[in-house]
Amino acid sequence: MTQTAALPLLFTPMSLRSVSLPNRIVVPPMAQYTADDGVANDFHQVHYGKFALGGAGTVFVEATGVTREGRITNGCLGLWNDTQQRAFEPITRLIRSRGAVPAIQIGHGGRKSSMQRPWFGNGPLNDQDFARGEQSWQPLAPSAVALADGWLVPKAMDEHDMTRTRQAFVDAALRALAAGFEIVEIHMAHGYLLHSFLSPLSNFRTDAYGGSLAARMRYPLEVASAVRAALPAGTPLFVRISSEDGFEGGWTMDDSVVLARELLACGVDVIDCSSGGNTPRGATNANLQRAPGYQVPFARRIRAEARILSEAVGLIRDGLHAEQILQDGGADLIAIGRQFLFDPFWALHAAHQLGIDPDFKLWPHQYAWWLEKWDKGIKAREASERA
Ligand SMILES: Cc1cc2nc3c(=O)[nH]c(=O)nc-3n(C[C@H](O)[C@H](O)[C@H](O)COP(=O)(O)O)c2cc1C
Repeated sequence: MTQTAALPLLFTPMSLRSVSLPNRIVVPPMAQYTADDGVANDFHQVHYGKFALGGAGTVFVEATGVTREGRITNGCLGLWNDTQQRAFEPITRLIRSRGAVPAIQIGHGGRKSSMQRPWFGNGPLNDQDFARGEQSWQPLAPSAVALADGWLVPKAMDEHDMTRTRQAFVDAALRALAAGFEIVEIHMAHGYLLHSFLSPLSNFRTDAYGGSLAARMRYPLEVASAVRAALPAGTPLFVRISSEDGFEGGWTMDDSVVLARELLACGVDVIDCSSGGNTPRGATNANLQRAPGYQVPFARRIRAEARILSEAVGLIRDGLHAEQILQDGGADLIAIGRQFLFDPFWALHAAHQLGIDPDFKLWPHQYAWWLEKWDKGIKAREASERA
């Protein structure tokens, strides 16, 4: 990691393996549920391109299924065939053309696969969804235990399923590189397949992949090792974890520290610290209090105790707050999710707020020429009104 002096940390570039991040601002994966058979379209291009235009350093494309049955919804992106791979190319080109780093999260939905798009209910598919043309499929999971009543009962993965899915992660990571992505993140959070192996709330296996913490970590670590081994040495690998389940008897922050150490040993570079998403039967949500920066303590502990780079995410909305987290050693990278949906120019506004871009030099030059004069005019008028 290298640092440039005299800039706020938020705008200090950072090197990760052979990739240079222009700043510490990350757009985290945010599923748009708008793909056709896993293929990205014009919406995705504008959606992701605008964050790069708005100054984000790293733009993550949403959770992308490594297999057809690994999609969460019918509208999720996929990366198991050539058509899907090619459709990502204009997106990565666009992100890179703005000086940002194109990144992608690859994942498998596990027992939460084959569910409704959020705006149709966010639950199991029903007759109204089928009337809309949605299709259902058999989810895979460590154990044949549904997420909750009314949800599909997944098939407990056998050795063949596990080998095939591990290879699908590797293949998707290589397709991601071929499509122009420079960073790959493995989705190990939010109750999806790899998290469901980790957590005692969803893993009831009695073979080598269930029981003790080491056994529950075995498959996720195998996947991470296989992806790392396939990627070139210069490509950074991130893993998103749910730092804790937030339920009695579930995955804990202490477990996450152990996992992060193991992931570091596998060659993972950054732990992206989220939480929740896996529930005991009957419960629908994690018992987490959601206040500004509520997940920063997870990123801070992972960084301090596992000695690996960490990314903080969750209700970070203000540039000063983001800078403070970095200054305090809470994290190495700051992910801004919904606030970027609200304000796609969040990063450029934060640069303004932190006083490093009074002349709009970081803005697209097509805007900067106008905005500089516009701003001076506003300030001059305000000054003359005060006088
Ligand atoms: C529309 C939307 C889609 C999301 N999709 C994903 C996803 O694909 N993968 C993932 O790991 N997290 C996903 N998340 C979680 C976000 O990455 C982020 O962790 C969460 O929104 C909290 O950060 P925020 O408060 O800055 O929005 C999603 C969140 C939103 C709002």
